[in-house]
Amino acid sequence: MTDAQQAPPATSAPSATRAALRALTAALGPSKVATGDAMLPWSRDDSPYPSPLPDAVVHAASEDDVQTTIRIANEYNIPVVPRAGGTGRTGAALPLHGGIILATDSLSGIEEISKEDLTAVVRPGVVLGDLHAACTEMGLFYPPDPSSLGTCMLGGNVATNAGGPRAFLYGSTRSWLLGVDVITGGGERLVLGGKTRKRSSGYELSQLFAGSEGTLGVATRITLKLLPKPPETLTVAIWCRSDPGAAAVAATILAARFSPACLEFLDERTVDVVRGELVVPEGGRALLIAEFDGEGVEVIAERLGNLLSGLPDVCVVHAAVDPSRREALWGVRRALSLATRRVTRHKISEDVVVPRGSAGALLDDVARIGELHRVRHLTYGHAGDGNLHVNFLWNDEDEKPRVDAALDALFRATLARGGSLSGEHGIGIAKVPWFAAEHSATSRALQAAHKAAWDPKGILNPGKWAGGDRNHREC
Ligand code: LAC
Ligand code: ZN
Repeated sequence: MTDAQQAPPATSAPSATRAALRALTAALGPSKVATGDAMLPWSRDDSPYPSPLPDAVVHAASEDDVQTTIRIANEYNIPVVPRAGGTGRTGAALPLHGGIILATDSLSGIEEISKEDLTAVVRPGVVLGDLHAACTEMGLFYPPDPSSLGTCMLGGNVATNAGGPRAFLYGSTRSWLLGVDVITGGGERLVLGGKTRKRSSGYELSQLFAGSEGTLGVATRITLKLLPKPPETLTVAIWCRSDPGAAAVAATILAARFSPACLEFLDERTVDVVRGELVVPEGGRALLIAEFDGEGVEVIAERLGNLLSGLPDVCVVHAAVDPSRREALWGVRRALSLATRRVTRHKISEDVVVPRGSAGALLDDVARIGELHRVRHLTYGHAGDGNLHVNFLWNDEDEKPRVDAALDALFRATLARGGSLSGEHGIGIAKVPWFAAEHSATSRALQAAHKAAWDPKGILNPGKWAGGDRNHREC
């Protein structure tokens, strides 16, 4: 399919927008349709990208509200941008072409947690941390845990296929999605999957929906797979003497047949940023955090302790089973985002992923790119998955062209190593220019055909990666 065959993206012609807002207000009631001065926060999210203001925000409180909004938007050809917690890092929930933000934060509530089925049925506005707490209370476990646990919502987690540290053992949100009720971009109600833990019956459209970033439809109900809560968890912070040392220690742990749920890495430059705020042991220059769950973690602790004590790259090891001590060990990792913000005026934080054995080579690429383009950088992330948060930092606007060149080089180096632009944050606005470098023309055409089938008028999230090659840069 070529651009010429695509429906043109929806745009907010002022008269059509006014008529659509009147129709929405009449159908939903004025309390659910906000316009005017209240728009500013809705043109921002947890990404650094600028966006125009939306024309209105619809606060959907039911599936009917979602369907009504999408049907009216189709009638008047107005863009609709779905949004849950707004914690995305790539700008996927920003209204690039104005139109309506369809906010699902009020479409909230845990409908059911079943111990027998090991499932949870939730609305898209449920905060992930609330689901974790409810599961824990019942002795159950929902593994995905992106770092924004306290504010991100399940609708956004599904839309971006959110990951987090535990994805190493347990996989990302998509691995836990059993079913989803969707209002498609065409305004149809679609019930996908269900509560069975397995299904091998036709195309699994719920899996296609996960990671679709609000380009195909809007989730109104989400069914997730659960596990019994592991009886014990062991967290181990391993201070290493250098970046290559940390990479060697991580490889040694896996070669010794340990199977951590998380294997996180903070490089030397990252540790330098938090050094003033937290206790960093003498000689500790890079950090690994490993976490193990299950039964008999003390046996793991002992075996791991024996292994690590013989490794010259290891400086100091702290291990904890007690929840508050474990949380303290995660403190360094959780402090990163704010600590980085304190040392620079601007930063861009990427989430490139390579086959895990190539993570060390990608770190070498980052060092070379930083030097070549004279851009300050630091890297941390999910070493177990080869999913690295490469951060470029700058203070003055005149450094920005060099940052852009470094970013381009990073994406190209990642793809050259068989990697992907995103391990867990998605494409959003951020990575649209490189989308064609990862996805072949045939793959892009097939994705555009899916988009056209779900959203024939192209009203959902126009200007993002799906639905045509207008914004893509060829290699
Ligand atoms: C993290 C988020 C930003 O790992 O993905 O901190
Ligand atoms: Zn991450």
